[in-house]
Amino acid sequence: MSPTGGDPHATGGSTPGRGELELTWPGKHAADGSRSLPSRDVERLHLIERFPGPAGDAPNRLVAGDNLRALPALLAEFAGRVDLVYLDPPFGTGDAFHVRPPRAWTSAAHGRADGDGDAPGAHSRREPIAYADREPGGLGGFIAMLAPRLELIRDLLSPTGSLYLHLDGRSVHAAKLLCDEIFGTSSFRNHLAWIYSGRELARRRYSAKHDDLLFYTRGRRWTFHPERILEPLRESSRRALSRHVDDDGHPYVIRYRDGGGFAVRDEPGRTYRQPVPAGTLPRDWFTADYARKSERTGYPTQKPEALLARLVAASSEPGDLVADLFAGSGTAAVVAARLGRRWLAADASPSAIATARRRLLGLPEWGGGFDVAALGDALPAAATLDVAVRRVPGSDPSAPGRARLDGSPGDLRAVAAWAIGSRDGSSAGPSDAPFVAAGAAARDPWTGELATELVADLPGPPVPDGRVAVHPSLARAWTVDGAAVDLPITS
Ligand SMILES: C[S@@+](CC[C@H](N)C(=O)[O-])C[C@H]1O[C@@H](n2cnc3c(N)ncnc32)[C@H](O)[C@@H]1O
Repeated sequence: MSPTGGDPHATGGSTPGRGELELTWPGKHAADGSRSLPSRDVERLHLIERFPGPAGDAPNRLVAGDNLRALPALLAEFAGRVDLVYLDPPFGTGDAFHVRPPRAWTSAAHGRADGDGDAPGAHSRREPIAYADREPGGLGGFIAMLAPRLELIRDLLSPTGSLYLHLDGRSVHAAKLLCDEIFGTSSFRNHLAWIYSGRELARRRYSAKHDDLLFYTRGRRWTFHPERILEPLRESSRRALSRHVDDDGHPYVIRYRDGGGFAVRDEPGRTYRQPVPAGTLPRDWFTADYARKSERTGYPTQKPEALLARLVAASSEPGDLVADLFAGSGTAAVVAARLGRRWLAADASPSAIATARRRLLGLPEWGGGFDVAALGDALPAAATLDVAVRRVPGSDPSAPGRARLDGSPGDLRAVAAWAIGSRDGSSAGPSDAPFVAAGAAARDPWTGELATELVADLPGPPVPDGRVAVHPSLARAWTVDGAAVDLPITS
């Protein structure tokens, strides 16, 4: 099932007419009364790293920096080409969030005393800050932050593209009016409720156990595959409907042709067999929990992969481009890669970039390959890590040599991921050329394990201009707070 009927070129977006509701927010209008629109001046995105995929290219992109400033550059490349946008902005909680990787990894790296690591609200001052959800101006400030971004993001969407805006009860009502204005009320498709479980703590009101997602489409035709995300039948319905099973093992019910309901047995000419569906069509509410604890990265407000898998499967095709511009730990990018989509992800927090990079490096073939780019003021800080990378010869002349990461236990534990490679795919690239990885190891945040040896003699993947990193000359290590250090590979 794919695009539904209608005009594929409708773009939405409108100024509310007479008699319609209109939302206002600080800065909506310029001094002359005209509507303020975001700058489209393109700021340079510096390519800093490439993790080539199997074909040697890097079809996916992780961008460090404020999404509002990065968007014009992304629009220059991707306007009208993004099939699905998922946005999970800070909800305006007023909190500061810290990265809290599981204890197996961090007790020494972040100065956490054993025993207090999982207590609610317990965080060491050395735990890296993820982001401060402190948009000034309350709800008005939040909408003022979101409005110009949505204006630009609308133009990223392909004519059949979809947007999911993930919020909660604090901001969804105002954001609905904002989206109606930017995308057009006729582009609104659903208000979804993601229902989750967890401890009920509220005593004077109802415990908040759902988030709200607004679903808009760019036009009147859009990709939607409900059959990929069917709701399982209730067990009682399945049992009641599964009294008959055909020779291939598929359950069916027998129905009278004249509409007289269910029959007990086949009555040739009067009845027919109706297969029992695998599930019911998806509703506008659903549950999705963290499938595995090992999915957790320690990044605050991380969303379950099951939630993103549902949206990506329903609203995009394999090979489509999925974008998440408040990417956090990179859940949407990871899910998109797993489901065979291309992806584009951005975040202003260095620790979000570090978490997403680490997670993506843990995927087979680096999730298809990706580039890391950054705005000028979001280039990674220099990490002060006392580690070194040495070349270790193979055990015999035919065995490949290895590169080994050494350092004190404390410094090694601070390494989130490391890679060997070279600059720009050559052994003597300029010092500001991107680091092109030939091998990488990413820490498993749940077990705390990090491989400290990488094969160093394998031919690297081909790069587009034909150069090949055969003998990596350089290593790069990243910390959980997003700092990086380059190290020569010594013999
Ligand atoms: C709720 S979290 C996203 C969590 C994510 N969905 C996940 O599964 O990990 C919101 C993210 O928005 C990022 N953010 C906030 N303001 C931003 C901005 N102006 N530009 C880019 N990212 C921003 C924060 O750093 C944070 O990582």
